[in-house]
Amino acid sequence: MSRKVIIAGNWKMNKTAAEAKSLVEALKPLVADVCPNKADIVVCPTFTSLAAVADAVKGSNIKLGCQNIHWAASGAFTGEISAAMLKEIGVEYVIIGHSERRQYFGETDESVNKRLKTALAEGFKPIVCIGEMLADREGGKTEQVLEQQLAGGLAGVTKADAAKIVLAYEPVWAIGTGKTATPAMAQETHAFIRSFLNRTFGTEVGETIRIQYGGSMKAENAAELVAEKDIDGGLIGGAALKADSFAALVKNAIGNAL
Ligand code: 13P
Repeated sequence: MSRKVIIAGNWKMNKTAAEAKSLVEALKPLVADVCPNKADIVVCPTFTSLAAVADAVKGSNIKLGCQNIHWAASGAFTGEISAAMLKEIGVEYVIIGHSERRQYFGETDESVNKRLKTALAEGFKPIVCIGEMLADREGGKTEQVLEQQLAGGLAGVTKADAAKIVLAYEPVWAIGTGKTATPAMAQETHAFIRSFLNRTFGTEVGETIRIQYGGSMKAENAAELVAEKDIDGGLIGGAALKADSFAALVKNAIGNAL
């Protein structure tokens, strides 16, 4: 089964709107020759930069994503953002349940599930993040933690909707630390995630779901990671903040995709 590579830049809380616009303007010519049939290239700026970036990516092969979505249509939810607000700007992808949201802002599998269901109902392409902490891995609990995050986060999702989801496996100990999981280690975990998806949604759906790796992925290690059978792209933090490093990463990843 060949799945189209998806490389998404999660800009986190970086870049003002003006800086975000400059970054994406610099990125456009560097990835202009990447055929949209070969890879999806996504950038996920912070909310205040979405409009500027939406404008800048029009007519290019770069797609727009954001970093959160609330489950309610509107109301008293200070600091949150609704589907309609994101849709109006032209957002296509939505990152849900990033480990930083889970660690610092009380995101749970239950809230991930609510955000996911709204994102699906509203026609977004969700990027659902899962990943174990260092203590989980060292304690031999990686699979147990991931199984729990998958079961809770994806609870009640239909087969048809599951096919629209992208999963991002981000070992928390590898995020921003320079410590990447080895390709073999990442593949082993991706295969475990794939087996959960196949069991839950059937192989006809499970085999089509793209699973990104995230955690200190950069141009230098992208090719070997994406060469693994169940690694279908990356969710990129630090290396997405510069046009040249992100473009190089995209090209190296595609060159080696299975
Ligand atoms: P880094 O690429 O900076 O390790 O961040 C990964 C990440 O959290 C992407 O969502």
